[in-house]
Amino acid sequence: MRGRVTGEQYTQIDNPDPFASPVWRSPVYRTPELVIWLVQLLRSLVRLAWFLIRHPLLDLAAAMLALLWLHTGWRGVAALASAVSTGLVMLRARRPDWFTRFVSTPVRCRWRWWFYRRHWHAVMTITGLAPAYRGRAVLPVLADVTAAPCTDRVTVRLVSGQSPKHFADRAEGLAHGFKAYLCRVRTHTPGTITLELVRRDALAEPMPALPIPDAAGADLRALPVGRCEDGSAFTVRLHGTHLLIAGATGAGKGSYLWGLIRAMLPAMAAGLVRACACDPKLMELAFGRAIFDRYGSYAADPGAIAELLEAAVADMQERARRFAGRQRDHTPTPEYPFTVIIVDEIAFLTAYQADRKLKDRTLAALATLTTQGRAVGYCVIAALQDPRKEVLNIRNLFPDKIALRLDEPGQADMVLGDGARDRGAVCDQISSGPRTGAGVGFVRLEADPDPVRVRAAFVSDDDIRAMTTTYATGMPAHAESEAA
Ligand SMILES: Nc1ncnc2c1ncn2[C@@H]1O[C@H](COP(=O)(O)OP(=O)(O)OP(=O)(O)O)[C@@H](O)[C@H]1O
Ligand SMILES: [Mg+2]
Repeated sequence: MRGRVTGEQYTQIDNPDPFASPVWRSPVYRTPELVIWLVQLLRSLVRLAWFLIRHPLLDLAAAMLALLWLHTGWRGVAALASAVSTGLVMLRARRPDWFTRFVSTPVRCRWRWWFYRRHWHAVMTITGLAPAYRGRAVLPVLADVTAAPCTDRVTVRLVSGQSPKHFADRAEGLAHGFKAYLCRVRTHTPGTITLELVRRDALAEPMPALPIPDAAGADLRALPVGRCEDGSAFTVRLHGTHLLIAGATGAGKGSYLWGLIRAMLPAMAAGLVRACACDPKLMELAFGRAIFDRYGSYAADPGAIAELLEAAVADMQERARRFAGRQRDHTPTPEYPFTVIIVDEIAFLTAYQADRKLKDRTLAALATLTTQGRAVGYCVIAALQDPRKEVLNIRNLFPDKIALRLDEPGQADMVLGDGARDRGAVCDQISSGPRTGAGVGFVRLEADPDPVRVRAAFVSDDDIRAMTTTYATGMPAHAESEAA
């Protein structure tokens, strides 16, 4: 059956040089066309049988449909189709949560799984993530796909010897290959990773200011200020920690400061929170000065700021003396309110201050507040543009940090810790356009070492004006310095 071609394998057929040494080539066998068709048919039948074995529910549905068609013709099938559609529409109207859980989410996951399955081989090979072993390309295994409205989480089982870093280095290629804006690599269990592929930017549009919570709803361990990329609420903890917000000019640090103040307003009005503002630039916190005058204090001049901070240190130490031996934790009460010290542009006070004495006083007070304040109900929130250690050498005294748009790739690691950028905190790639990029940042949440992309709601000048009018005029002032 097989015609063996002889001669070709030991000569150089087209070489006119009679002295050329012979070149050995593999023998060529010609397979008859019929055999090729038979093998392909057999292969398709095996594949079909394997598919039927792996999808028993689908087989059952197809069998029932075929039976219905045989017994009732097209009318029966049309009636069934309309009954199923009506059922789905009613489920969507009556129990949208069930519809999401049992219909739309599984369908979306399945559809996305199919999408990744189709592109998997090509993308893995072209990005160089399918290493060759014994002459064959070995592909990482596409294990599972969970699709949210804007983000897909793709679980991947690595090829032996691969590490998450291999994928992190090729994240850009993966994102483009799978038609996503961003691809982040999350470590799962050993040998398994999750690719987080962002299909649609849920944070592309600015959000209006969040409603002010009622007094009972204000939780100082979870103050709502915006939204996370997966659509969940982004809350910030202030009680029991200190917060550093770093972002280049125009990155939207103001919306975090005002968002936090807004979320604490009812607690301030109830006398449970005191807010002291240090505003060396005179541009940010001055706008709602009446709030600080009523529920705390305000200072803009560097000398006055040093005094304000030193007074806060004295209050804090007095409180610590009173708590000593009695309680180890602080619960806000009108007698011992939670005190938030907000410092905008902290670098003006700690790095660019020409008066060395003043600078040292300010730094000493800030260092004391950040090292001793946590347990007695004192919290420092600081905003700065340049996160380098020379600018703020007490950077590490802030346990919680938010990194907004930054100028250089290395700065994300300075704020969020080593490896943050490799894990997806691409602060240098946040848009500098206020509409799409202001207020967007990365944060490390308590439960997750990987940075999460968030956006603060925009607290506009009108919102601040309304807050000032409602909360800072005509209401009794509770906040008074304990030392006074
Ligand atoms: N969360 C937000 N959503 C949409 N737009 C915002 C948001 N926050 C701020 N902006 C826009 O970005 C502009 C700059 O914001 P902001 O003044 O807060 O920046 P900044 O980081 O404090 O800058 P600087 O360091 O220069 O003070 C604002 O005028 C506003 O138009
Ligand atoms: Mg500002």
